[in-house]
Amino acid sequence: MQSQDSTLHIIFGTMTGNSEDLANRLAGRCKNEGIAHTICSAEEWPLERFSEVRRVILIFSTWGDGEPPDDAIDFCESLYDQKAEVAHLDYMVIGLGDTSYDDFCGCARRLDEALEAGGAKRMSQRLDLDIDFDKDFDAWTESFIAGELALQRL
Ligand SMILES: Cc1cc2nc3c(=O)[nH]c(=O)nc-3n(C[C@H](O)[C@H](O)[C@H](O)COP(=O)(O)O)c2cc1C
Repeated sequence: MQSQDSTLHIIFGTMTGNSEDLANRLAGRCKNEGIAHTICSAEEWPLERFSEVRRVILIFSTWGDGEPPDDAIDFCESLYDQKAEVAHLDYMVIGLGDTSYDDFCGCARRLDEALEAGGAKRMSQRLDLDIDFDKDFDAWTESFIAGELALQRL
């Protein structure tokens, strides 16, 4: 049964905590503004849960040489391999990475491409963040929250 509700589901994949911190920051802003949301790590998100939700934001770092964080490998490979039903989703991907690596934000890019290939609809273009991510993330967050509040007023 697919949900038509507007709850924002924030899913993060992290190795050293940066993506989780940003996910928590976004969740905190949602809470302050009364925007319905949940937050969950990739490893705790069963693929079947996608069928119960509509709006997701994925916040994922990249490791190795373009690889997902260790705890998020199963989640990411399942999406890369089109093993989850995602066509009903509205989504956005935020990548954390480091431009000194060849495959900058490779994990986030592959997730974004896999969701698009699965028929999901982008709410917004992917945001790829370099190591000094705070300013760009905060600017994106404020613009996103403003958009959410405008939607609520419709
Ligand atoms: C060993 C190692 C490999 C990395 N590989 C990549 C990479 O291939 N591409 C990239 O964009 N960033 C890469 N990074 C940078 C991380 O993605 C970045 O530090 C990120 O902020 C970590 O977020 P996290 O704490 O949520 O895992 C790498 C970092 C390390 C230490």
